[in-house]
Amino acid sequence: MRLGTPLSPSATRVMLLGAGELGKEVIIALQRLGVEVVAVDRYANAPGHQLAHRAHVIDMSDGAALRALIEAEKPHLVVPEIEAIATETLLEIEAAGLAEVIPTARAADLTMNREGIRRLAAETLGLPTSPYVFADSLADLSAAAEKLGYPLIVKPVMSSSGKGQSRVDDASQLGSAWDYASAGGRINKGRVIVEGVIDFDYEVTLLTVRALGKSGAVETHFCEPIGHVQVKGDYVESWQPQAMSAAALERAQEIATAVTGNLGGRGIFGVELFVRGDTVWFSEVSPRPHDTGMVTMATQRLNEFELHAHAILGLPVDVSLREPGASAVIYGGMEATGIAFDGVADALAMPGVDIRLFGKPQAFARRRMGVALATADTTDGARSLAKAAAAAIKPVKA
Ligand SMILES: Nc1ncnc2c1ncn2[C@@H]1O[C@H](COP(=O)(O)OP(=O)(O)OP(=O)(O)O)[C@@H](O)[C@H]1O
Ligand SMILES: [Mg+2]
Repeated sequence: MRLGTPLSPSATRVMLLGAGELGKEVIIALQRLGVEVVAVDRYANAPGHQLAHRAHVIDMSDGAALRALIEAEKPHLVVPEIEAIATETLLEIEAAGLAEVIPTARAADLTMNREGIRRLAAETLGLPTSPYVFADSLADLSAAAEKLGYPLIVKPVMSSSGKGQSRVDDASQLGSAWDYASAGGRINKGRVIVEGVIDFDYEVTLLTVRALGKSGAVETHFCEPIGHVQVKGDYVESWQPQAMSAAALERAQEIATAVTGNLGGRGIFGVELFVRGDTVWFSEVSPRPHDTGMVTMATQRLNEFELHAHAILGLPVDVSLREPGASAVIYGGMEATGIAFDGVADALAMPGVDIRLFGKPQAFARRRMGVALATADTTDGARSLAKAAAAAIKPVKA
């Protein structure tokens, strides 16, 4: 793909579907290459809206609205940043040749629903996953629990960031898990995946990049594994590199190659894996930058957003690690609009610390409003620093 001049007839136009903190960084990377960027989100003044060439507010799960916007803006590339998108419309757009969907419309479609990607990984590709059953009612859920045994994790088939997800240790908790999942699912309320709990030593995100090589064929590259801690299904801190045995790393890369190879296209994927000893289980995959991968803004020569930008534009990538580092999430801590942040200077005075504040117009207690990044000689050192920096930042009512 030849890069043009934005806002001119030669422009290379990219539309981001979702303009949160991850989309915002992809936009920055694209604009550094002179790409014309259109940012779309469901609310006004989303982080990426604030710096794109044009910003739109639509319900991206409304297929007609999505198609109309793509027809009007005529992007060369459509880049999903979130899962909740009318993916059948993306399949139509791709089939009609109106735009290229990143990495592929099928990848967006399969990964928006836990059932699509789980069946592909476990049943089509034969990859190891947690044992699972799908359930459509409390009675189904009870039968699934009988079959799988406890403990279990119940998740709506359509949800992310741990929404509607709960752990069930015995039959008395099934009813509340069902109610919680039904309330937390996006659409398709009332269908859940019931998973046996994997007793892992640690979990990783293996950022996997499919990019064009010198020969013009797609090649697969792996970043150093990212370790992370999740609380209630939502990421709170991450670090890179996560040490892995040679055998576990090889297995992780095999699994990532199989999944991303099947989904196809170009771009970065966040492959989520559980590891115990040399055994690796596939959990899920995002066909886009991953929240735990924000650490790469501190650790890699090209961060995950720059890698995505390069890969989707057909440019070469460099996945090398520069130094160990960590990230820690900064939460809103309250429900309010237009909050302010105290303590930024204290955080930035810590050696090796950097801060991102996303500029989200509205805060919630558990909404991710920013991230602290740190580098150090070891990941343990970087984790302490990142957590201290995040703790130094105090959201306040303006
Ligand atoms: N079967 C399982 N066994 C053990 N732990 C699990 C299992 N499923 C989920 N978890 C834990 O819950 C976390 C969130 O699960 P999962 O990634 O499926 O949810 P999610 O809502 O898609 O989260 P996100 O959008 O943040 O990736 C996992 O990273 C892991 O820590
Ligand atoms: Mg996950």
